[in-house]
Amino acid sequence: MSLVQWVDFPHLGDERGSLIALEANKTVPFEIKRVYYIYHTGQNVSRGYHAHKDLKQVAICLAGRCRMVLDDGDTREETWLDRPTKGLQIESMIWREMHDFSGDCVLLVLASEHYDERDYIRNYEDFLKLSRNVHHTPSR
Ligand code: TYD
Repeated sequence: MSLVQWVDFPHLGDERGSLIALEANKTVPFEIKRVYYIYHTGQNVSRGYHAHKDLKQVAICLAGRCRMVLDDGDTREETWLDRPTKGLQIESMIWREMHDFSGDCVLLVLASEHYDERDYIRNYEDFLKLSRNVHHTPSR
């Protein structure tokens, strides 16, 4: 299965313009405990470079665009986030990097947990070791 999994949001727009509503456990497949947004990102700045042990996220580009790289330790895939009508699902134990932010990019992120630095894996070698353990632990 592709690492790039989208949630398509129902569009509630009419002749006046567009509207999208996000609801926990409905349009967004978890209880939303935290929302943050990234904007005014400097030119040639890349962000992310971490994975989360438990946290799940959905990233939505409300304006502009950026390029997201996702890596599960075996496969690396990338995609552009460039429209507010769909959200990119980022499961736990996925290394993510964000590149090529346009000057007007506003990236909204919905998170399943409160901020907790202990949930971060910020070293790629540590991530690879942990993801191999996760994927290769016998189920018994
Ligand atoms: P950082 O993890 O470096 O952002 P990114 O992975 O998108 O490049 O976060 C920048 C700073 O903000 C860092 O000091 C942690 C802090 N932070 C919070 O306090 N709460 C949050 O919800 C997030 C996402 C970051």
